[in-house]
Amino acid sequence: MNMMNPDISLSKEIPEDDTRRQYYYIEKAKEYVRKESEEIGRPLTFCVTTFGCQMNARDSEKLRGILEKIGYQEAPEETADFVIYNTCTVRENANTRVYGRLGQLKPRKKENPHMRIGLCGCMMQEPEVVEKLKKSYRFVDIIFGTHNIFKFAELITERYETGKMVVDIWKDTDKIVEDLPNDRKYFFKSGVNIMFGCNNFCSYCIVPYVRGRERSRDPQAIISEIRKLVADGVVEVMLLGQNVNSYGKNLEHPMTFAKLLQEIEKIEGLERIRFMTSHPKDLSDELIEVMGQSKKICKHLHLPVQSGSTRILQKMNRRYTKEQYLELVAKIRKAVPDISLTTDIIVGFPGETEEDFQETLDIVRKVRYDSAFTFIYSRRTGTPAAAMPDQIPENVVKDRFDRLLKEVQTIASEVCAVHEGTVQTALIEGVSEHDSSMVTGRLSNNLLVHLKGSKELIGQLIPVQLTECKGFYYLGEMAE
Ligand code: 5AD
Ligand code: SF4
Repeated sequence: MNMMNPDISLSKEIPEDDTRRQYYYIEKAKEYVRKESEEIGRPLTFCVTTFGCQMNARDSEKLRGILEKIGYQEAPEETADFVIYNTCTVRENANTRVYGRLGQLKPRKKENPHMRIGLCGCMMQEPEVVEKLKKSYRFVDIIFGTHNIFKFAELITERYETGKMVVDIWKDTDKIVEDLPNDRKYFFKSGVNIMFGCNNFCSYCIVPYVRGRERSRDPQAIISEIRKLVADGVVEVMLLGQNVNSYGKNLEHPMTFAKLLQEIEKIEGLERIRFMTSHPKDLSDELIEVMGQSKKICKHLHLPVQSGSTRILQKMNRRYTKEQYLELVAKIRKAVPDISLTTDIIVGFPGETEEDFQETLDIVRKVRYDSAFTFIYSRRTGTPAAAMPDQIPENVVKDRFDRLLKEVQTIASEVCAVHEGTVQTALIEGVSEHDSSMVTGRLSNNLLVHLKGSKELIGQLIPVQLTECKGFYYLGEMAE
């Protein structure tokens, strides 16, 4: 049966199978949307705004897919009838931003009786947040979490039928519902979930509490999704998981991530494979070997270090030392000599001394990252680190953050300059935001290059001469 178009009839019983059940609700919601649009004499519009990581971006594509199927049309947030915030909660400021924007929606909703507001994503998995919304943000229509986004059409139907705020949050799940609609942002590349959740419990991190336990998708489901994507024009996939290196451990027939990559590599027509995120403690020799031999895996590894101090790493529950991380980097560079390494670093973890911070600067100097995301430690209620003594004063953290950023940027621009003059393949992703006579392409190492060209090139892999390094991107020319 073609799941994209299963034969669903509203006059029959509600199907039990999760996917079919959702197609039933898609049909049902479509009826309500059609009636409402007829009443007001125009189509209803929606906008999904994504906060946070690539995982959320992929979830938003699923939300958009469902909304389009039920008859909503996409529009800018300012005019949309249905505004959905797919939220993040990894750091406190992400939450603050959502409350701010919600406040701005309230007067709009008073003016537009057809307006709906939906909230989902990681922030909704926090009970205090939902309590606050239920109490002080009664104008929100639908609230759901990370485990049940597949139920979006069902929740929309419920909102139509009850006329009340719909709240549906699951604490955890072992479900993975396949074959629902999605609407890709780019026709030539796509994220592909390979696993959900995280079992690591790094002591600062809220993700394991809001994304639940690790669950791997069945390899056949992943491969068949990628085959379909390729048939639909996709040349690059980004395999997504909080910790892709522990892929497959909980499958009925366990399979390593390296093996999964080898299977994906065989898919004809697929040109590039990326993945994120890797936890250093689980990065196997097998994976390094596969990366070294692969023709399709991009020469880029995002390997979050978080801190250069073994003492802090231990308190963070990262389960590797500074030395082990450096050894791993050496091993990777030996197997894949021109690989680009990027990382995440947190400054101001509880108890971090100037000495610890110097260790972080030291590891940055030793590894020489192509780029690094630097974060100020954010205290997340419920995580072990939130209860640790010695939370670092803001001014001290800010000073360390500035020093780290400077170091990271200086090194990144030096590393970037090394490739100046070389010819590399770029996947053209779009017309340049600054100059409409130029296009922007992504290199295997994940850096961007801007070159003269028109929109016909979008989605193509072309050789580009990197003529000038601009610190963290290049200017280039199409090579012969
Ligand atoms: N404070 C600051 N940064 C955090 N991260 C995760 N939790 C926190 C926190 N409480 C960062 C880590 C992770 C990235 C996605 O976000 O560096 O790798
Ligand atoms: Fe958070 Fe650590 Fe899991 Fe990454 S590996 S999501 S930092 S707990």
